[in-house]
Amino acid sequence: MDYRNLGSTGLRVSVLGLGTVKLGRTAGVKYPKPFDLPDDPQAASLLETAHHLGINFLDTAPAYGISEQRLGELLQGQRDTWIICTKAGEIFDGEKSTYDFSAAGVTASIERSLLRLRTDHLDIALLHADDDDLLLFEHDDGLQALERMREKGLIRAIGVSTKTLEGSLRAVARCDVVMLPLNPVENECAPAIEAAHVANKGVLIKKALVSGHFSAAHSCGDAARNCLEFAQTHRGVSSIVVGTINPEHLKENVQAICTHDSGMPGDTGE
Ligand SMILES: NC(=O)c1ccc[n+]([C@@H]2O[C@H](COP(=O)([O-])OP(=O)(O)OC[C@H]3O[C@@H](n4cnc5c(N)ncnc54)[C@H](OP(=O)(O)O)[C@@H]3O)[C@@H](O)[C@H]2O)c1
Repeated sequence: MDYRNLGSTGLRVSVLGLGTVKLGRTAGVKYPKPFDLPDDPQAASLLETAHHLGINFLDTAPAYGISEQRLGELLQGQRDTWIICTKAGEIFDGEKSTYDFSAAGVTASIERSLLRLRTDHLDIALLHADDDDLLLFEHDDGLQALERMREKGLIRAIGVSTKTLEGSLRAVARCDVVMLPLNPVENECAPAIEAAHVANKGVLIKKALVSGHFSAAHSCGDAARNCLEFAQTHRGVSSIVVGTINPEHLKENVQAICTHDSGMPGDTGE
């Protein structure tokens, strides 16, 4: 497994990260098939497998149901093994999402995340943007709240999980990290990856496998592998966060990542 610098944050993340939506939420998700949450032994085993495969980066959010609470329980005694990213601003009540990007709302959300994750600091905290991600920069109370918590040492790196190219470029300009969608059928935000590379900012990729709808991306061959290779061809990507609760898929994804030569000098961040 390769590790890359997350921009200038000082964090080094595995090129493949683990997304944890499916550890905490089954309702209102866009995956192709319904699924059950893994039980605690299955979830613990998945995390252990990820660790053994060299993955050191976990992505969660309050909007992922009970994902944060479960990680808090499952990672007791191994907090320092993991780089943890969570988010603020989106709340999912079991049926629908609501958004609160006010300073008070974002601060309270981060305080709840610290308690749920049973930690005294977050490695990365992102605003969890809705469709209008530009609004977060025009009314930036939420970002200011994250900046204050970064100053206090509660958060090491801050950013925005974006939807649009313009929002991604604004995140690159202002923040330490941007999380953006990238796959063969959704690559509108790709220019922001290059901008982040030039500015030495971190880039986290979400939906690299089209949230499981990857057969739409490639009709033949190993579609998941093709998608992961596509994400790796963009210089500037720090980590590709793939969501899975299937250990075999996890191993296949690591295999795909580790056998692909990106051809980019220095992409191990050495
Ligand atoms: N901030 C945001 O707005 C936002 C939005 C979306 C996602 N995210 C983050 O990004 C992560 C990834 O996005 P995502 O979960 O939407 O989509 P994704 O990673 O593109 O795809 C996940 C889906 O692909 C399947 N999968 C994974 N590896 C596979 C393989 N080798 N072969 C076949 N199927 C495979 C998974 O099913 P199995 O469980 O069966 O493997 C799952 O249903 C999330 O978990 C989350 O952490 C953030």
